Amino acid sequence: MEASMLEETVQNPNPYPVVGELHYPDIWQLCTQARDLAWDADKDIDWAELARETADLPAEVRAAGAEWWSLRAWMEHGATPYGAERLSQAIYEHQPFEIKQHVANFIMEELRHHEASFRIADALGGYQPSPSSDYFKLVIPRFHNEQEERRMSFYAGMAVNTLFEQLSGELLTARYKNAGYKQIRKACELILRDEARHVQFGRILMRRFFESLSDEEKEQLGQKFAKKLRGSLLNGVYAVVNLPKDERSRSARARALAAEYKLGATHPDEEVDIIVEALVQIRKDVEPYNVPIPQIPEIEGERVSTLAAE
Ligand SMILES: [Fe+2]
Ligand SMILES: [Fe+2]
Repeated sequence: MEASMLEETVQNPNPYPVVGELHYPDIWQLCTQARDLAWDADKDIDWAELARETADLPAEVRAAGAEWWSLRAWMEHGATPYGAERLSQAIYEHQPFEIKQHVANFIMEELRHHEASFRIADALGGYQPSPSSDYFKLVIPRFHNEQEERRMSFYAGMAVNTLFEQLSGELLTARYKNAGYKQIRKACELILRDEARHVQFGRILMRRFFESLSDEEKEQLGQKFAKKLRGSLLNGVYAVVNLPKDERSRSARARALAAEYKLGATHPDEEVDIIVEALVQIRKDVEPYNVPIPQIPEIEGERVSTLAAE
């Protein structure tokens, strides 16, 4: 082939330079921890024991638990398209190895959280691959919006995501405490251990990159956080406050029942308290970097009980 022809051949992605030198030792440390603390949902949880122990629960309770853990499974899976996009972006942008490694670990970890969750749902009578309510079918696809994501720089976008990791970590801690069955408790504990690393990654990003953001980017970051929280996460994902009335009371009742029977769930009213408290902490964390997080009126304003709102 003639040299001039070769020049026209665009390699996509251009793999060079393939960066091998570590830039962020603190992120690399998270990667080595991820290797040391890897777990296996198949081997580390005794599924037969869980099925045995929960077999005699009332049918209504089993159904509420299966619905709850199906939802948890969809949420965990919801993190994987986000992770896949970030991995592809990190590769195309020639980010350092440890960034690509962390994102790849993140995807694997969210996948095992997904696996543990759908297997709990199965043990409780059946994982639901799709939500039964129409409204819910619309919520989960809005969980990740790549167009929104691309409006921010790679690291700013990742930092926003980790603010959510912090929020979901707080909710997960309450669900871990609620879990009365040993194997559900163990699954929650293993998931939490991974999430702690995701939160840690966010803290590193904040420390390393927040100062370099412009005021405009910071403003955008806070707004993006609030928009995602209000637009999808309060619609039945983190809490049920923004669901339409009928669906809100139905799913609130199911959650309350799953929590009452210690299936590793949170009561809908408790969820709101946890989110409000976590927001106080998140605002404190981003304060030194002057990132404004807008008020979230539906949970920080006047509230009614989700169960009473029938
Ligand atoms: Fe997760
Ligand atoms: Fe996570």
